[in-house]
Amino acid sequence: MSGCRVLDGGAQRDAARELAADVAAGLSSTPKSLPSKWLYDAEGSRLFRRITELAEYYPTRAEAEILRRHRDDILARVGGGPLDLVDLGAGDGRKTMLLLEWLRHEGRDFRYVPIDISEAAVRGLVGAASDRLPGLQVEGLVSQYAAGIDWLRKERGARRRLALFLGSSIGNLTRPQAETFLRGLSRALAEGDHVLIGFDLKKDIGRLVRAYDDRHGVTAQFNLNLLARINRELGGRFDLTRFRHYATWDVARGAVESWLVSTEAQAVPVEALGRAFAFEAWEGIHTEYSHKYLESDVIALADASGFTVEAGFTDRRGWFLDSLWRVGPRSR
Ligand code: AVI
Repeated sequence: MSGCRVLDGGAQRDAARELAADVAAGLSSTPKSLPSKWLYDAEGSRLFRRITELAEYYPTRAEAEILRRHRDDILARVGGGPLDLVDLGAGDGRKTMLLLEWLRHEGRDFRYVPIDISEAAVRGLVGAASDRLPGLQVEGLVSQYAAGIDWLRKERGARRRLALFLGSSIGNLTRPQAETFLRGLSRALAEGDHVLIGFDLKKDIGRLVRAYDDRHGVTAQFNLNLLARINRELGGRFDLTRFRHYATWDVARGAVESWLVSTEAQAVPVEALGRAFAFEAWEGIHTEYSHKYLESDVIALADASGFTVEAGFTDRRGWFLDSLWRVGPRSR
């Protein structure tokens, strides 16, 4: 079986309305803020792929190194028998391919289920994975994380499952959001199933901030594209030259924060909302958190969300951690 099933076409259709509601609410609040999920339209996804190739943005390379070095150990710990590999927020799936190739090499019976909010990403991934591994069992699902978890709950069967949440996507959730998401995930899985989660670890602050403010300005373009998206999809009149990308480390939160700062006082009309939004000079719009973890935070998060840490795998420099968790007994 190979194909691409659109799991929540309704939610996709509602996206324009949801974006409008988030922009109306976010630009009326203090401080102004916009949810980071809106960074990923086709142009944002293209820019994010460029970010992953930047010298300053180490997480993607560090995680690929971990998967290349430890995939045999990771997959051995997950156990034998038929396996569903469920890739949450799969993106272009390049790192997951390292696991798929290993499963094929080992002659395992497995199915690949990439889940991503972008239909183009899922279709591209299903095609690329099938080309690379002829005869691969793959079923792509276009959905947000919540609907993906619903699918996992309903599709519970005899097969063992390994859910992947790679690339430090967990870092874009606040700690309470991460806990809620992971708790939902543990409930949707069966006892003994596994998850592999990519955590970017705390390190030198200069290195962290540079990863989100590269010298070629790709991350700035990625962030500013959010305003360009509002222009394209909601008839906004943001002048991108009057906003600046700014990344900073919040010690208390343990996160790099990304902002768009208005360099002058201005009012920006958004046609679809029938109103304009006023900015004072140097007022910011918060656009993203990228939380960084200590190993002790990872253990506490596993514990709080119904998992047991099975093993941890880091790159040679100890900058990134792929943590393998097992669903604990239901009574917990
Ligand atoms: C997708 N996510 C894990 C990236 C991160 O590191 O927070 C998004 C990103 N934003 C700016 N650079 C990368």
